[in-house]
Amino acid sequence: MAEAASSDVLVIGGGAAGLFCALTAGQRGRRVRVIEHANRCGKKILMSGGGRCNFTNTGTRPENFLSANPHFCKSALARYRPEHFIALVERHGIAYHEKELGQLFCDDSSKQIVKMLLDECVAAGVEVRTSCSIEAVEKTAAGFRLRTSQGVFDAPALVVASGGLSIPSMGATGFGYALARQFGHSLLPTRAGLVPLTLSGSHAERMQDLAGVALPVMASAGRQSFSNSMLITHRGISGPAILQISSYWQAGEPLRLDLLPGEDAGARLQALRLERPDAELRTLLSELLPKRFAQRLCEDAFQSRPMRQFNPKELQQIGTTLNNWPLIASGTEGYRTAEVTLGGVDTRELSSSTMESKLCPGLYFVGEVMDVTGWLGGYNFQWAWASGHAAGQAV
Ligand code: FDA
Repeated sequence: MAEAASSDVLVIGGGAAGLFCALTAGQRGRRVRVIEHANRCGKKILMSGGGRCNFTNTGTRPENFLSANPHFCKSALARYRPEHFIALVERHGIAYHEKELGQLFCDDSSKQIVKMLLDECVAAGVEVRTSCSIEAVEKTAAGFRLRTSQGVFDAPALVVASGGLSIPSMGATGFGYALARQFGHSLLPTRAGLVPLTLSGSHAERMQDLAGVALPVMASAGRQSFSNSMLITHRGISGPAILQISSYWQAGEPLRLDLLPGEDAGARLQALRLERPDAELRTLLSELLPKRFAQRLCEDAFQSRPMRQFNPKELQQIGTTLNNWPLIASGTEGYRTAEVTLGGVDTRELSSSTMESKLCPGLYFVGEVMDVTGWLGGYNFQWAWASGHAAGQAV
């Protein structure tokens, strides 16, 4: 059998976290080899942010992440911050802009971020192997051995950066979870996050033909709320407010939508009744909400008539419904369209400063494979950079 090729570090996965860990370790003089099974690195980066990659969020805080162990992300996020990544982007001459709420996007293309990471890897002497499938991972006396379609690789340190289950067509696999289990790690249940919600039954029937209508809402589930826009789709609801709340919403739980966020809808309707008593409710709602949506509400939920024919109690009830529209979601669109995977490798078995396994020295997990999931808006890439950096500094 051919002799194993050795390096100091083997990284499984040439996505955001894997490349960042590799270049960080390479800059420290470590000999690093990245094993990527897809035919190119960073496919999710390429498709992110509508092709412009929302590469960080200037307001990144630990509160923007979901995890069973909420303190875990603090150390890495504090040591590698958005301004560090922005400085790197600027050094590479990549133009960017803030879209909203601290979200930074490339002016031109996500390709620039992938090129920047790969250029940094080359400069740091990192070897990247694409189209390389892993057949087995073994523990040896000196560290780890990977048997792959391109030969056998040995290293004392192994970094698992194989991501989550979202978008299987882009190379996502459950490989990292199986490997974690192989080395005795516990997993927290995985589910799709930042994902459109589906509707069924009469809700679906009454909403389908409104596909394409967008409106600002405040979406709430449990104690969490997000104000942003909602988009009605052929299958259900999407848009930033819905994607955000999808990570907190549990199947079967009510979803609350405030259709007039920041306003007491009942008080607004009482005022409108005094100002325009002859106007129909439908007309007034069409001024406050997208017209087709308002008309559908009047067909399904409220009977439209001139405002003077409503008494204050009735208007208050209509207002309560508008501020607390009870929509029953039947499920999510699943990993096919989800931006992230919630759950994963239990961080209680990892060091928060180095990402190293507490069960198997030399084994590290970075990025989405572990149970740390960010909100929509550049937080997930910031976690990939920060966790990759923490491990890259330690290996
Ligand atoms: P990532 O998925 O990037 O990389 C994992 C790598 O491992 C992949 O290259 C994969 O092919 C490889 N791999 C898997 N199994 C393997 C195996 N067995 N052997 C070898 N290699 C293997 N976030 C954000 O902050 N801003 C944004 O704009 C967006 N936009 C966005 C859009 C879309 C459509 C999606 C699906 C996701 C986003 N995200 C995002 C989320 C973001 O892309 C995600 O959180 C990071 O890419 C996670 O980085 P990782 O490196 O952990 O996984």
